[in-house]
Amino acid sequence: MKIIVLKETKHHEKRVALTPAVAQQFIKLGYSCLVETNAGYASNFDDEAYLKAGCEIISSKADALKLCDVVIKVNAPTVDEISLMKSGSILISYLYHAFNPELVGALAKQGVSAFSMDAMPRISRAQSMDALSSQNNLAGYKAVIIGADALGKIFPLMMTAGGTITPSRVLIFGAGVAGLQAVATAKRLGAIVEVTDVRPETKEQVESLGGKFIEVKGEGVQVEGGYAKEVSADYLQKQKEAVNKSLAQADLVITTALVAGKKAPVLITEEQVKLMKLGSVIVDMAVEQGGNCALSEADNTVVKHGVTIVGRTNLPSTLAQNASELYAKNIYNFLTHLSTKDGMKWEFEEEITKGTLITHQQKTVHPSLQTATA
Ligand code: NAI
Repeated sequence: MKIIVLKETKHHEKRVALTPAVAQQFIKLGYSCLVETNAGYASNFDDEAYLKAGCEIISSKADALKLCDVVIKVNAPTVDEISLMKSGSILISYLYHAFNPELVGALAKQGVSAFSMDAMPRISRAQSMDALSSQNNLAGYKAVIIGADALGKIFPLMMTAGGTITPSRVLIFGAGVAGLQAVATAKRLGAIVEVTDVRPETKEQVESLGGKFIEVKGEGVQVEGGYAKEVSADYLQKQKEAVNKSLAQADLVITTALVAGKKAPVLITEEQVKLMKLGSVIVDMAVEQGGNCALSEADNTVVKHGVTIVGRTNLPSTLAQNASELYAKNIYNFLTHLSTKDGMKWEFEEEITKGTLITHQQKTVHPSLQTATA
């Protein structure tokens, strides 16, 4: 199997889908790896390193796409890139298929079998292939660093000859992958950390990292496959009352709350921002899904009522080297699950294949997209 790694073209994207170390692992198994010139440069992997690993560097994307069996990327390809792909080839990248019908249509029309990394089922067997988890974990770390940088004070308790500095208070909404890493990072820096999540089972996870879980009395949360599915308005009101005291005391707030397949819930209204301390900071990680804070703006930092609100998207790209290393490992584990050096296994009823295959043989085949495009 010939794998091609394309250079990412999305604005501000620094990651690459394959690192030299992982390419070497593929080559050892008998796969061949072609890498577009400078594909890894922004992640600190130069062409020289890929050559040393045994890859071929290619300058003509169009020619190489005609030859390759598997195209790997971080972000979805453009329609132009899709038009260069050969019929019967495989694509592995993020696709967000539910939100990108045009792209899915173009892939089906071109006869590309497309697998979406963001559709990976969150099951134990797929953990080593779960790119959303590997990337969001890094993003949770970076959100704390960005928040700490925007804050006019330090995190830890510090006793000096000049006096004692009290520790900062960090409040985190959502204890999923990103939120739990934010808890761990803020604790390591010495902050007092409080957390709210609608799934009661996260209490133990938060506490094991040294955070304090804010209890909300009452039922109203439906959980399915480990994800919060539906949260009642009554519960959200109770949660608001329970967190308001912590919000008013917080120096840094990090929001990561998400209900799968839905717009992000607004958990901090303008009225609540007004309750916050002068100089405090909110990092709204859910800004791309509409935001957990009513005042956040995508890829912008705004100051409202004396509170700095940061709405950075694509945080994993700011840690491109590590993010690429982990993403490449996810790709390796996924592709070696789906194929051997001689070709694809095509086990259509297997849970990971079924959950991630979006288009095949000119049709949209994912269970969530039932109409055929052929
Ligand atoms: P996840 O699904 O693992 O965690 C989300 C958590 O939010 C779950 O624990 C869920 O129970 C909780 N939640 C749902 N409703 C809530 C509510 N009303 N109050 C409190 N908690 C609630 O998701 P993950 O991987 O941790 O990602 C979190 C968010 O961060 C997502 O919106 C994701 O898109 C975003 N993200 C943003 C990045 C950026 O660059 N800005 C990078 C990575 C992730």
